[in-house]
Amino acid sequence: MRDNMLQVDHHDPENLSLLRFNALWESNYRNNSLLVFSTGRSPTLYKELRKEKPMLTPDITIMSVGTEITYGNSMVPDNGWVEFLNKKWDRNIVSEETSKFPELSLQSETEQRPHKVSFYVQKDKAQDVMKALATRLQERGLDVKIIYSGGMDLDILPQGAGKGQALAYLLKKFKASNKLPVNTLACGDSGNDAELFSIPDVHGVMVSNAQEELLQWHAANAKNNPKIIHATERCAAGIIQAIGHFNLGPSTSPRDVTDLSDSKMENFDPAYEVVKLYLFYERWRRAEVENFELYLANLKAVCCLSGIFVHPSGIEQSLHDAINSLKTCYGDKQGKQFRVWVDQVLPAQIGSESWLVSFKKWEQSGEAWSTLY
Ligand code: GLC
Repeated sequence: MRDNMLQVDHHDPENLSLLRFNALWESNYRNNSLLVFSTGRSPTLYKELRKEKPMLTPDITIMSVGTEITYGNSMVPDNGWVEFLNKKWDRNIVSEETSKFPELSLQSETEQRPHKVSFYVQKDKAQDVMKALATRLQERGLDVKIIYSGGMDLDILPQGAGKGQALAYLLKKFKASNKLPVNTLACGDSGNDAELFSIPDVHGVMVSNAQEELLQWHAANAKNNPKIIHATERCAAGIIQAIGHFNLGPSTSPRDVTDLSDSKMENFDPAYEVVKLYLFYERWRRAEVENFELYLANLKAVCCLSGIFVHPSGIEQSLHDAINSLKTCYGDKQGKQFRVWVDQVLPAQIGSESWLVSFKKWEQSGEAWSTLY
């Protein structure tokens, strides 16, 4: 099992590295690994980001710099974590003391959370302010953690909080239920990610575009730790690179395979077939497919004659008819921005040679996002 912290690239307008990661995750990891997103953002900003970017659904979401942990699609909060963070924490005292520092300007209301008070502070003032503030809050009996990220954000949290502590808490929980992951890979780019890399037995990747404060932390604290690398690739592409570097499992995204017709029955994997099918569908509509006759023939061979496609509306169609109906839309997205990805591809074997695979399919056409299947 593997945990993973995803990286979103705001300089990749087509989101290709994220889409490459998505295809790799869904085809090889979804079924036996845990995808954990860990973000500094509040639930409000995190949900906005998910509407803007082609992000998969994580199994666990850690938000607000490791002060909020939720599970599954419906984001059920971990109340044990909330109770733990309440110790030695008094938000009012933090507000009172920080108001005495004119260098601090409060971030938006959405980013102020029960266990997180966040400000902006100029880079050249940050170190002094952090020192003075730590002393003041200690004098008031609070045990806090002050984190500087992105060369501008200053977060104040309970000492036991933070992305690394949240991860350690989860690992402890998994261990208690005998479900400790075989490997854990943490990925990060800014100051609030540093503590992720200090958790024992965790592999770490600082993506190529990591912020100065994280690189400085690494130089001072973890330079000789072979379990942490600084990728040469940006964002999600850096994660794929790290999976390969640490030999954690397959690291070739199906999106990087140009000829999808390589299917062999002995390697049949239903999740991989679904990922490939929708990659083929994207390329088909963009008129970018190679070897399509062979691919379609292979596809029909792996989908048995009685196979059916069930739309969430309840409408059923035979898989062969669904494949045949592709003919009408060949190349209709040629030269246009058109991307397709699948999320939560979960196969269940229901017979000696049959699988029921549930998944969500997303399409993005130009600026517009369309239906969730
Ligand atoms: C995100 C949050 C912000 C926080 C920053 C660094 O940008 O929105 O509140 O200060 O991460 O942790």
